[in-house]
Order: sequence, then C-alpha cells, then structure tokens
Amino acid sequence: MGQGTVQTKTRHQEPRDQEQRQKGQPDQEPTKSDRLRIHNLVTRDPRTGLAEDVRKGLAASPKRFLPKYFYDELGSQLFEAICLLPEYYLTRAEEEILRNYSDEIAAAVEGKKTLVEMGSGSATKTRLIIEALLREQTELLFMPVDISASALESSSRILLQSYPRLRIEAYAADYFAGMAELEKSERGRTLALFLGSNISNFPSADAVRFLKAMRSVLHKGDALLLGADLKKDPATLEAAYNDALGVTSAFNLNVLARINRELGGNFDLRSFKHHAFYNEDKGRIEIYIQSLLDQRVRIDKLDIEVDFAEGELIHTEHSHKYDEAGIDQLANATGFVRTKTWVDSQGRFSSNLLMAE
Ligand code: AVI
Repeated sequence: MGQGTVQTKTRHQEPRDQEQRQKGQPDQEPTKSDRLRIHNLVTRDPRTGLAEDVRKGLAASPKRFLPKYFYDELGSQLFEAICLLPEYYLTRAEEEILRNYSDEIAAAVEGKKTLVEMGSGSATKTRLIIEALLREQTELLFMPVDISASALESSSRILLQSYPRLRIEAYAADYFAGMAELEKSERGRTLALFLGSNISNFPSADAVRFLKAMRSVLHKGDALLLGADLKKDPATLEAAYNDALGVTSAFNLNVLARINRELGGNFDLRSFKHHAFYNEDKGRIEIYIQSLLDQRVRIDKLDIEVDFAEGELIHTEHSHKYDEAGIDQLANATGFVRTKTWVDSQGRFSSNLLMAE
C-alpha cells in the first residue's frame, strides 16, 4: 500500500456537545472534535492491488490468493460472524483473558501509558484495556491503526462517547505505513496491542518483519501484548475453521465472489468448495478453495482465462498455532522478551506480554 501525505480530518462537533454549551454547562472536557484525529494514509485504489495480486496469484503454482482480500465489506461482516460461531473459540477465549487480567496487563507496564493498537477493527476487546488504563490514570491517548478508515471512524466515535477522558489519534493505513507514522510520534510510555491472533496469518518471515517494525516503534520498557492462538488437538482446531453453519466457507469463497464483482470474473461459486485442515507438522491450519471439476474461468478486467483441474487447490490462508517456545522464538528474534503469558480457563488462547529490550 502506497504511503501518501497525511490528511488530517477534523471531526464536526457532535450535536450533544453543542446542546451542552447552549445550556451553559461547563465544558471541562475537550469537545469530541478536539479528541479525535484521523490521518488517512490510504491513497491507492484497493482495486489496483487486487488486480495485480490476482493476476500473479493465478499464474503461480500452486495458485493462491492473499488473505488480505478476504476483507471487503461483505468479507469483514462474515469475519465478524465467524467470531460469534460456537466452534470459533478464539475471540471468546481472548476476551475472557482480557476481562480477567486487564488490570494486571495494564500494571505490567510502568507509568502513565499511551495505548497503540495495530488492526483495531471494531475495537471491542480494546475497551477492556482502555477501562483498565483509565482506572490507573486520569486520561488516555489511544492510537489505533487500521486499513479501514470507516471502521476507525465508527469505532472511534463509539469509544469517545463511552470514555470522556479518552483522546484518539488514528491512522487509516496498512500496518507498515502506520508504524512508520507511529515511529515519528511522541507518545511516552507505550502499551501496544496486536490482538486476535492476527500474527498467525503472516508467513513466518513476515511475522518477524512485522515484530521488528513494531519493536522499532517502541522504546525500552514499552510492551506489546500479542494475542496468539495455541496448538491443541486437531479436532478442535479443524472445527473452528469448518463450522457447521458454513460461515467460514462463505468467508473463503467470497474471494471468488469479490473477483466476480470487482474484476468482472465469472467464477461459478457452486463449482468450488472450502477446504481447511490442520497440518500438525507445520503447526498451522491451511485453508484452500478447491475446484470441484475441470473448468475454465474468465476474468474480464484482467483479460485472462484460467483453467482449474478437478480437485485443484487454490491457497488462501495459513493460520499458525503457537506454543510458548514458538512465541519466545519470535520475541527473541525481534528484540522483545516475553515476560508474562495469560491463558484462558480452557488453555486455548494466549495473551503474551513482550517487553521491548
Ligand atoms: C484473522 N485471523 C486471526 C483469523 C484466523 O483465525 O486465522 C482469520 C480466519 N480465517 C478463517 N477463520 C478465521
């Protein structure tokens, strides 16, 4: 994603704030407009990236699509639905940890803190950490980074309504562009969050690259809270990615629907199926789209026709699973030390405090 000039949008005053002033009520708190800045660094039409990556991915062997293309509007809603599925324990397990240990997590980093979050999305779980920090300190600066400006805007508005002592400086950007901006900012002591086991969808080398970049944003004594799903029995893991309702299947096949919508493809979704399994040797869930028959698909905007053989797999995602040793390895390779790990009551998910060395 290209990085452009920082555009700073100033939010309009909320009607409730105007009303308060007209009633002559004291305005001790900054107005909501004073409390929110969104820097939009997303300059490139996302469709340009999609076209290039789909062309490359379909020419590769085996064929592949990048997992970031799951998350158009429909895909993002499907992911929210995945998080509610009985089989997809990850979200609930992490929420349980944050609910039970948020005060301990906040206290594990000394002093008054700024909160940073990479890939904040709806920032639902973040509320638990915000509340813990606001129990410790009188005010809080929250700096979320998310690729979706609209998600940032709506989540920020909701957070500001809930927490009058919160200020938000948000970056609509990809992770690396966001981190480059954060590196320049003056934040003081920082607790950064990377929740939801989002690290698991990076290839190993990219996970290291991401954590190194995060480390260079932080100073010694700052920390990153890293959410990571744990290795466990294959049946539990496979159920989480093959839910009975078929939501994960829809989430996966939506990539083909997206290519049809945005690039003029003619994928017949009924001629493909979702395929996910746990590769125990590699410690990861592997997700593919499988062609059910020999078929040819045309993509108008790319001016290509692509053949798929019966049974052929198109790779769409890996979801790595961790143990303590794996997390230590990641931390030690990137300038962090894991000082504390919290797990949920069923031992399924971990929240790891990585201190910047
Ligand atoms: C976002 N990420 C952590 C999810 C995961 O569990 O790897 C994405 C996902 N893919 C299928 N279901 C959920």
